[in-house]
Amino acid sequence: MDDFFVQFLLLISSCLILLLLYVYKSNASSITTNGGPLIGNLLDFIKNRNRFIDWTTEILSASPTNTMLLHRPGIPPLVLTADPSNVKHILMTNFDCYPKGKRFTSHFGDLFGQVMFVLDGERWKDQRRIAAHEFGSNTLRDFGLDIVAQETHTRLIPILESASKTNHVVDLQEIFNSIMFNVFYKLAFDERPGSLSNDRNGSTTLLTAFKQSSFISHERLHHLLPFMWKVKKFLTIGSEQRLRDSINIVHKHLERVIQVKFIETRGMSKVDVMSRFNNHGYTSIESLRDIGIGLMLAGMDTTVSSLTWFFWLLSSNPRVEKQIVEEVKAVRAKHNRSFGEMPTYEEIREMQYLHAAMTESMRLYPPAPFNVKACISDDVLPDGTQVKKGWTVLFSPYAMGRMEKIWGKDCLEYKPERWLEDGLFRQESPFRYPIFHAGPRMCLGKDMAYIQMKSIAALMIERFVIEARDNRMCPEKALSLTLIMKGGLPVKVRERYPEFKD
Ligand code: HEM
Repeated sequence: MDDFFVQFLLLISSCLILLLLYVYKSNASSITTNGGPLIGNLLDFIKNRNRFIDWTTEILSASPTNTMLLHRPGIPPLVLTADPSNVKHILMTNFDCYPKGKRFTSHFGDLFGQVMFVLDGERWKDQRRIAAHEFGSNTLRDFGLDIVAQETHTRLIPILESASKTNHVVDLQEIFNSIMFNVFYKLAFDERPGSLSNDRNGSTTLLTAFKQSSFISHERLHHLLPFMWKVKKFLTIGSEQRLRDSINIVHKHLERVIQVKFIETRGMSKVDVMSRFNNHGYTSIESLRDIGIGLMLAGMDTTVSSLTWFFWLLSSNPRVEKQIVEEVKAVRAKHNRSFGEMPTYEEIREMQYLHAAMTESMRLYPPAPFNVKACISDDVLPDGTQVKKGWTVLFSPYAMGRMEKIWGKDCLEYKPERWLEDGLFRQESPFRYPIFHAGPRMCLGKDMAYIQMKSIAALMIERFVIEARDNRMCPEKALSLTLIMKGGLPVKVRERYPEFKD
């Protein structure tokens, strides 16, 4: 018996060693290997754990329907798709069957609380109605533009000017992070971050806590054993302890700002987003706090991602950069405006090539590379894929941007021209290009995002040449809610017209 036990242990250990060797030594690959009912595609998930975005793109491209079914032990199957008709079905035709679901809420609920990004049903509808009304207003749009102008002139341009003088390498992603953090904080609270904090480094502490809590909340989705994060949370250890601490920092900071600014001056009509929700009956500290967190994460991370990838692409596409420089110059001349002035709303609208160049950059590098839904009753997707109640459905805008079936043979090339017709920007179906989502949950900040990103980019490109330290190798992507560069974007900055400078 003892002998049998020893042999049994040896067998189990050898199997484990072989499994680990297989997982760690084998190259990451696009081939999926279904390991049967017990482990499903677990080995593929492990092998490709650091390249989930690229792996899923490869397997979706290889699938004749651009749809895949993946299994992991302990959780319901995952339907992965990059097919526009499936996306239309999920986001619009059968919208009620595909809510965010409990799994998403449980992963992000600690950070987001009760804000529309994680809600379904009546509570989502109510916040959506108010947000749709307010985001459509010209006063909020102009307030957003004023903030961007202020941040650009007082912080962004001086930072770039200094980098060009010293010839130092700077991290452009980090710079955008700090600029857009201030922009969205001001948009939400009409305050500078940290201004009401007792901590001298209040702004930096808050930004770090924001980043950390969003990153760890997202990491929960990628645990190989899905219940692990709940165990860690229960024991308050490791990443879950860090998550709790950073959420505490964010909550405490925002609650104090809300207490001082909104609760004590309730009823005053102001232009910022919090005051607008406050006027619509959102009066508790918690509800305003959650809306503030949601707005900051929705606007800040996406625009930082978009601007960073855009400048990386430009630095290896001088032809596109030249066209933008010429367009900005022509629009300036038409409106009798001077070099370096913040573009007006009218000027930004007229920059059609810049609009196309940014849209094309987000096709290849979507700020939100994945979107997850829960299926709440048995259904069949337009391509014939069966989806059962309780399964998760994930569509990948990243993979869709690289599908030959959607964009043609040149799908991997950066070509702003594919968006232009007689020099004017041509819209694409949001189900083929779901970068801003589509249907009833479509992004409400799309126009504001374009205006802000275009004004920043126009001003930067007009005055500076941004050279990525490595413009050939695609930067490594971090696994996060938004598509960020793992090591940032190291760049050098040069004045475009040094002869104009003193
Ligand atoms: C490049 C920039 C942006 C991109 C790519 C983007 C993308 C998205 C996506 C994919 C969603 C759907 C999220 C989901 O439900 O799963 C979304 C929703 C939303 N976005 Fe954006 N967004 C951007 C900028 C902004 C900005 C600047 C704001 C606000 C100022 C904003 C406000 C919202 C809101 C309020 C929703 C919630 C819609 C709802 O749940 O009904 N977004 N966005």
